[in-house]
Amino acid sequence: MSSIAKAVLCAVIAAVVALPGSARAADAPARIGIIGTGKIGGTLAELWVKAGHEVLISSRHPDELQGLARTLGPKARVGTPKEAAVFGEVVLISVPYGALPQVGKDLQNELKGKVVLDTGNPYPERDGEMAVEARRKGTGVASAEFLPGVRLVRAFNAISYRSLRSEAHRAGEAVGIPIAADDKQALAVASRLVKDAGFEPVVVGPLSKAKSFDVGSPVYVQLLTARELKARLGL
Ligand SMILES: NC(=O)c1ccc[n+]([C@@H]2O[C@H](COP(=O)([O-])OP(=O)(O)OC[C@H]3O[C@@H](n4cnc5c(N)ncnc54)[C@H](OP(=O)(O)O)[C@@H]3O)[C@@H](O)[C@H]2O)c1
Repeated sequence: MSSIAKAVLCAVIAAVVALPGSARAADAPARIGIIGTGKIGGTLAELWVKAGHEVLISSRHPDELQGLARTLGPKARVGTPKEAAVFGEVVLISVPYGALPQVGKDLQNELKGKVVLDTGNPYPERDGEMAVEARRKGTGVASAEFLPGVRLVRAFNAISYRSLRSEAHRAGEAVGIPIAADDKQALAVASRLVKDAGFEPVVVGPLSKAKSFDVGSPVYVQLLTARELKARLGL
């Protein structure tokens, strides 16, 4: 095989594997399960549906999400957190940080091997002592312990839900969204979903580096462009 043919083949393979679980093009719509359809999860559901993705928004009380589902239209369905975990080739977990250990335990089998985007921020006043420990370790390390077996990405934790809504697809330079993961393919999937939501992904590094954009860090909720974010983080 010629070197040009090899290069083309590699590009095609890279495009196909960018979304896990199926042999389809990287720009095909994704099936996204959303666990925690609150301010962040609900906003991302809307942005991703607008981008053409299919979502399953979930709640422990699914009936309460029927109104949102109607607003989102035919690309949205409603279910339980377990159904979201099964449905998603990518799963967003956006729950109070204190709920993460239980979610990880209850849905361990369903989430195993999946790309999981975790937006949670630990607040001791809301989440208790575990939040103190998570802040000390950094959320990339702490969340990985709560979500064993997933291909974890820290994402969308350093922007407020109001800015997520108002700054998506803004004119001019996009707002940068820092992301961190140990898994390259998971980073590719998350980068695509950040772009589709209307932002610019900034890969900060492995999960151990997620601490650099945790709550309380100098870049947290600063609405920086990707260029500014990279400069502040020394990337
Ligand atoms: N708000 C922000 O601007 C912002 C920004 C960045 C990051 N974050 C972080 O992202 C996470 C979500 O924030 P949010 O503001 O979107 O929260 P939220 O509006 O309170 O929504 C959280 C959702 O989590 C679900 N939930 C709560 N406990 C659960 C449990 N034990 N099991 C399963 N689901 C549970 C609730 O759904 P049901 O009750 O319907 O099941 C609720 O809709 C938090 O960790 C937060 O710190 C928030």
